[in-house]
Amino acid sequence: MMLFTYEKKRIFGAGKSSAIDTVKRVLEHYGKTVVCTREPGGTPMAESIRECVKHDWQEEVTIEAELLLMYAARSQLLANVIKPNLAKGNWVIGDRHDLSSQAYQGGGRGVSQQKMTILRDLALNGFSPDFTLYLDVEPQEGLKRAKGRGELDRIELAGIDFFERTRDRYLQLAANNQSIVTINTMQHIDKVHDDIRQSLATFMGA
Ligand code: TMP
Repeated sequence: MMLFTYEKKRIFGAGKSSAIDTVKRVLEHYGKTVVCTREPGGTPMAESIRECVKHDWQEEVTIEAELLLMYAARSQLLANVIKPNLAKGNWVIGDRHDLSSQAYQGGGRGVSQQKMTILRDLALNGFSPDFTLYLDVEPQEGLKRAKGRGELDRIELAGIDFFERTRDRYLQLAANNQSIVTINTMQHIDKVHDDIRQSLATFMGA
């Protein structure tokens, strides 16, 4: 899903938290048992990796270290939370998944497609979500929202060019994959949530 969280007073835009609430409500309306999780994170070890990834270390963090940490966390989450829940018949809502790595590390950091594919195959072994909502925002506006909610994490400190490349990659991947729907979050919040409900209804009816 998207970069930035939602603040209740805002009229325009919507962030991941409020989007996830809407998705959860819709799925529960369809009678599904829903489990929510997030990336990086969602297991004790993966939450620890999350802290490590977001921390502003007083040393250079290599692109490779960042990338490997993302996939280490994802591998833990997949094995210990996502797959067991799907096996029980539960529905899993992920706050971010592999698309974030494709966009941030592949697009933003410039990791080659070949390396991204090798890592994805290693960690996910063909697993992919059935449906993804990409909450799109212009980078300047996105950074403004992130600053509004508090301190920026290490990755959010990367600068506007990084976010331009990340967003371009998100849009490009979404345009080429029918299971990814782009939601424009630079419109009235009611419209954003309507668009989310509409896309989900289409998915559930398919
Ligand atoms: P957030 O989900 O609370 O925004 O924090 C996650 C941070 O990690 C955010 O800056 C985006 C970044 N991230 C990546 O760079 N690659 C990934 O694969 C994932 C899941 C997150």
